[in-house]
Amino acid sequence: MENYKIAVLQFAPEFLQIDKNLKRIAEMCSGLDTDLLVLPELATCGYAFAQKKELLSVAEDGVNSKSANFFDKLSAELNASIFYGFAELDGDKIYNSSRFVNPDGSSTIYRKMHLFGAEKLWFNQADSGFLVVEDKLGVKIGLMICFDWYFPEVARTLALKGAQILCQSANLVMPWCQQSMITRSLENRCVSVTANRVGDEQNGEFSYHFTGGSQVVNCLGERLGQLSEDEENILQVSVDLTKVTPQLNKYNDIFEDRRADFYFR
Ligand code: ACM
Repeated sequence: MENYKIAVLQFAPEFLQIDKNLKRIAEMCSGLDTDLLVLPELATCGYAFAQKKELLSVAEDGVNSKSANFFDKLSAELNASIFYGFAELDGDKIYNSSRFVNPDGSSTIYRKMHLFGAEKLWFNQADSGFLVVEDKLGVKIGLMICFDWYFPEVARTLALKGAQILCQSANLVMPWCQQSMITRSLENRCVSVTANRVGDEQNGEFSYHFTGGSQVVNCLGERLGQLSEDEENILQVSVDLTKVTPQLNKYNDIFEDRRADFYFR
């Protein structure tokens, strides 16, 4: 597929304000023409939790909830596959999750495997592993959330599982991820999409500045587009997926050439 359309929504979710955030997302996405839409981590509810009861007030069931219904409808309306972050309530557990939904209503939830900083105080440790799903066109999408970038094993695992696009919803507070995803794309020879948020949140002892810079990088490590550090906007680019292959040249398939027996486990 030569002209696969990707949209990345960057905004500043309001803390604990699910209704307002969904309304803002609907406004921003009005008339959007894309195959894939990626939103930030915890896009429905914000990030700076200082008490468990705050998180409980916005944690939702993965598929039967206000947010899930909203994104099911948006996916069908736009005829786009969508990846969005939310706080997932499952029994007595709460996960920092992102859900991938297709226009036909099928969906998959990825629970963040590498919790960052104070997230460890509020969210349960996930064990869902690393997931590759198919979008509405059968394109293989590897799912990641934010701090997963710090562990190159994540992108490599997703690529080995066949991901053509690494899809990352993020609330980045450190400055290095956007640069690192260039290398993740290059070394795995796949496209990467990073949807980060902007703005600041302060709550009790917790204070965060989010670094924006949402971007799309192709499988040669070229940035096809990037938003600024503070704008609320949608980045739209087309990528050529025919170039996504582990075959580097006549002699080298970067996955076949791995010397896995010698790598440290
Ligand atoms: C992060 O994982 N939200 C930095």
